Amino acid sequence: MPSSAPANPSDLEQQLADLKAELLETQKMAAIGELASTTTHEFNNLLTTILNYAKMGLRHTDDATRTRALEKILSAGTRAEKITNSVLGMARNRGANAAPTNLADLAGETLVLLERELAKYRVQVETDIQTDRRAMVVGAQIQQVLINLLTNARQAMTQGGRILVRVAEDPQSGTVDLTVRDNGPGIAPEHLPKIFEHRFSTKSGPDASGKGGAGVGLSACKEIIENHGGRIRVESTVGRGAAFILKLPAVAEQAAAPTAVKRLGVPA
Ligand SMILES: Nc1ncnc2c1ncn2[C@@H]1O[C@H](COP(=O)(O)OP(=O)(O)OP(=O)(O)O)[C@@H](O)[C@H]1O
Ligand SMILES: [Mg+2]
Repeated sequence: MPSSAPANPSDLEQQLADLKAELLETQKMAAIGELASTTTHEFNNLLTTILNYAKMGLRHTDDATRTRALEKILSAGTRAEKITNSVLGMARNRGANAAPTNLADLAGETLVLLERELAKYRVQVETDIQTDRRAMVVGAQIQQVLINLLTNARQAMTQGGRILVRVAEDPQSGTVDLTVRDNGPGIAPEHLPKIFEHRFSTKSGPDASGKGGAGVGLSACKEIIENHGGRIRVESTVGRGAAFILKLPAVAEQAAAPTAVKRLGVPA
């Protein structure tokens, strides 16, 4: 007699669903932890800039030097404000329920958080926003998908390159489409059918920033997008680049405005 009864298939399915949910949660926490550490680091650098220029302004009494110091302080302060707003945006998007979300804003906030890392690897980002129609999504989850896609694109372009983030409406499918396109090496045709599989990776291990190689990024993206009733698709041309297209359910009317969120800011 076996010591335990054979597992019944619906129990196994439940266990699998629980494990998948746990995996997504772990990935989310890892992404947040990583962003918290890079943004804190950047914040600290900005603070150093502000303090140094404030000291310079106090030391020198001529107008030209003081003006230059104030300009540097203003520009560092503005960048710090953007970062704070994006981190607050992340906290605001952490709700577990889908809500009408402006994907361009979400992409903008995500890019602010990754800007420094992308610049470090000489990756330029352009955005092409074609619509302000909102999509019905769990903001934090789509942000996680974006972080995975942007990180993959950055890692593929070892010599630097360009990423285009595009938001457009597809009236035929009733979706808002979010595309992340890079001009890196693209994906080998024999790898293409496997890239969304759990644990598929062509990377030998984490890169210098500690990211990549587990082969869980795209499978998590697929899971999240499909849970939203959306679709994720890839286009790739070897030598020209890869594009990941997310099709997410559009919100039918623009009528109901989202709750206004007070932004931090210096009065103009
Ligand atoms: N933009 C891209 N350009 C070229 N290849 C890509 C791109 N995005 C994904 N890939 C390929 O798809 C594979 C799977 O990606 P996925 O994000 O799932 O795993 P990973 O990046 O290797 O590891 P991690 O779990 O850390 O994300 C990658 O190893 C890479 O070969
Ligand atoms: Mg990845």
